[in-house]
Amino acid sequence: MTTTSARTTTGQDADAALVAGVEHAVAVERLRRITDPEERLVAYARIATEDVFNLGIANNVLLFDLLRDNVFAKVVLTEADAEYASPPYGVPELLGPITAFLRKRFSAGIDPEYDVYATAGGSGALESLAFALIHGGVLTPGDRVLLPAPFWPGFLWCFEQRPGLRCVPARLDGADRLTLTVAALDRAYDAAPDPKPKLLVLTNPHNPLGVNYDRQLLEDICRWALDRQMHIVSDEIYSHAQSTGKDAFTSVLSLDAYATAPDRIHLVYGLTKDFGLSGFRIGFLVSKSNDVRRVMQGDETWKSLSWFGPLDSLKCAYVRELFGTTDRPSEFPTTLMKDYTARLKTAHDDAAHRLREAGIPYVGMSEVSRNATQFFLLDLSAYLDSAKFPKDLVLINHEIDRREALLEAFLRTDARVLLLPGGEMHCPSPGYFRLCYTADTMERVGEAITNMATSLRKL
Ligand SMILES: Cc1ncc(COP(=O)(O)O)c(C=O)c1O
Repeated sequence: MTTTSARTTTGQDADAALVAGVEHAVAVERLRRITDPEERLVAYARIATEDVFNLGIANNVLLFDLLRDNVFAKVVLTEADAEYASPPYGVPELLGPITAFLRKRFSAGIDPEYDVYATAGGSGALESLAFALIHGGVLTPGDRVLLPAPFWPGFLWCFEQRPGLRCVPARLDGADRLTLTVAALDRAYDAAPDPKPKLLVLTNPHNPLGVNYDRQLLEDICRWALDRQMHIVSDEIYSHAQSTGKDAFTSVLSLDAYATAPDRIHLVYGLTKDFGLSGFRIGFLVSKSNDVRRVMQGDETWKSLSWFGPLDSLKCAYVRELFGTTDRPSEFPTTLMKDYTARLKTAHDDAAHRLREAGIPYVGMSEVSRNATQFFLLDLSAYLDSAKFPKDLVLINHEIDRREALLEAFLRTDARVLLLPGGEMHCPSPGYFRLCYTADTMERVGEAITNMATSLRKL
């Protein structure tokens, strides 16, 4: 009796395992087709049968408790919130305090009435800029966009997918080819066929390198680009991510070069990274360009682009609690960013210490006061040619070096740690992996690093 029921149970388990195996294979096949490599990791974590550490995605969980207690718990919806929020790029009573915050960080010259447009995430802001420059006749679909590499893979779909522009990665300088210089941009520009790139994209602080770019370099780069009649967009969505505890950030809006051509230098910011609100999809396009103003406000032929990804009234309710209103602005965002810097430093120092202890090298490891933003760019190239990878590794990354994809799969299954492979970010050579140390609690990031060290020792 016992034996029979035991056998029956085993049979059911085997069938269930088979069904789960088939479903799992179908799910893996489905996630391989996801364009966004970070979204692919989230999809993997969802179907994984074991607990995994997803440090491949750029999330920030460090502020959740403060946001929960000071914002989320206090949100009250009013009858007006059930109606259209107009204009879709932000009602004036909210754009007031938001702009006050942006002015403190980026430039006192930002005008709340004409310069700030809320969009659906930083991605929406980048894509809107591309459409604005096309609508204004500055760009034509097919035109080239110059991007210092490595870069956040999302720039590709922001500029290429719907606006139809073409991204040109610029290889950098230095022994590891990770140093941004004017000469590197110049080389890439010269090598690009006609018509030459008309838009330059900067990310500062940088994802995935972490660094802040210094004022003189930014001045030189902007002058170089302006001399070539280019437009520049600086993505400063990580501006408060200063992991050294010191603030070495320079906004493009504070440059002398900006003062000479304010309608050709644009800024992107958002609440995704610094505020840890990636699910909210709130971004800002900040610009003094008439072309931008036209498409964001709407003109005789175009409905405001924000209409399609608005600061809708649900978001407004949360943003109202977070930033206050024009007549009752809140100091909370400023205090929150101070807390963020402190927590970021603690989380950074702990992860850096553990990586060093584990002997896992990362870019900039020898530089004591180098900003890391929210990332470590691990250099695991020494493990690429290991003959000890298990034979049954399931690869989920396409179009990257096979050895890098194998190493990713090994860490994913053996250490249960998900990382973003450098090939997805146009790193100059295989073996780099981005680890986001704000994507999980400090304790779990530590556990993940220990797991990785154990796994790497097997290779
Ligand atoms: C540099 C950079 N810009 C923009 C974004 C996208 O922001 P959002 O999720 O708000 O669209 C990201 C997300 O990782 C990013 O790293």
